[in-house]
Amino acid sequence: MINKAIILAGGMGTRMSPLTKAVNKQLLPIYDKPLIFYPLSILMLAKIKDILIIVNKGQLNQYRKILPDGKHLGINIVYKEQTYPKGLPDAFLLGEKFINKKNVALILGDNFFYGQNLTSKLISCTKLKNGAKVILHKVIKPELFGVAKTSKTGRITMLKEKPKKFISDLAITGLYFFDKKVVEYAKRLKPSARNELEITDLLKVYLKKKKLTSDILGRGGAWLDTGSIEDFYKTSAFVSAIENRQGFKIACLEEIAFSNKWIGKKEILNAIQFYGKCDYSNYLKKLIS
Ligand code: DAU
Repeated sequence: MINKAIILAGGMGTRMSPLTKAVNKQLLPIYDKPLIFYPLSILMLAKIKDILIIVNKGQLNQYRKILPDGKHLGINIVYKEQTYPKGLPDAFLLGEKFINKKNVALILGDNFFYGQNLTSKLISCTKLKNGAKVILHKVIKPELFGVAKTSKTGRITMLKEKPKKFISDLAITGLYFFDKKVVEYAKRLKPSARNELEITDLLKVYLKKKKLTSDILGRGGAWLDTGSIEDFYKTSAFVSAIENRQGFKIACLEEIAFSNKWIGKKEILNAIQFYGKCDYSNYLKKLIS
């Protein structure tokens, strides 16, 4: 079982400078909410309540203003600062105490997931007992991501980070599920040629031991990563189109907490007061009316 998760929300956001000079990328808006709401909502949909958010050194106060300790959502949020972007597996080194020898999920702070049946897929991933599990999604430009080659039966046979030569069009999305051995394996990793610890190297340890499984997010699901300004606009347009058509919000944290029965009407009223007069509060009002 997985009850704990880490959101990796540091990084320099260099590709989005000057926007990211004063504000962390994950606090910038995707349509009507800060980006961080989206990966957090995914963890909450997976019913994970114990969450560590890793942020850049010096940016903790910004985060605490919008997501203090999680009590308002019926969850537990703790923070840890990363001094510089050492690579994704650094999450398990920084998070060792938080992980406390338990299984753990990792989601990248700039990843956006949406689609029917997503919640049941997420919940089935949290049932992982040992090994590691990744979510794959077909993309047109696999060279921009970590990529997995699979056999006819869907078993992963090869992994490569940002392959220059085509090996597969299945990208490894930024949502990973690991058993408790992950900390030990992360400690043994060596930095890559670009001087970062690589998540694909960590996954390769599990692959070698035949302990790596995968699930596919099919064409009915959307996975977008928001690495550039262009991606921010495209993802915002996607959220706006869905929200304004259906009237449902994507990643309204209080709505998810309320439907999970982690909070009640009182907390929703507090949230309305906290956010003030805005469209988000109007949406929350409708939830309890
Ligand atoms: O989005 C999925 C892809 O994410 C995977 O397919 C790749 O295998 C994986 O390496 C990663 O690739 P990116 O090049 O997109 O990773 P990036 O360096 O952009 O970091 C992703 C997020 O993690 C971003 O929000 C910043 C944060 N981050 C990154 C590093 C390296 C940290 O907080 N600390 C870090 O040390």
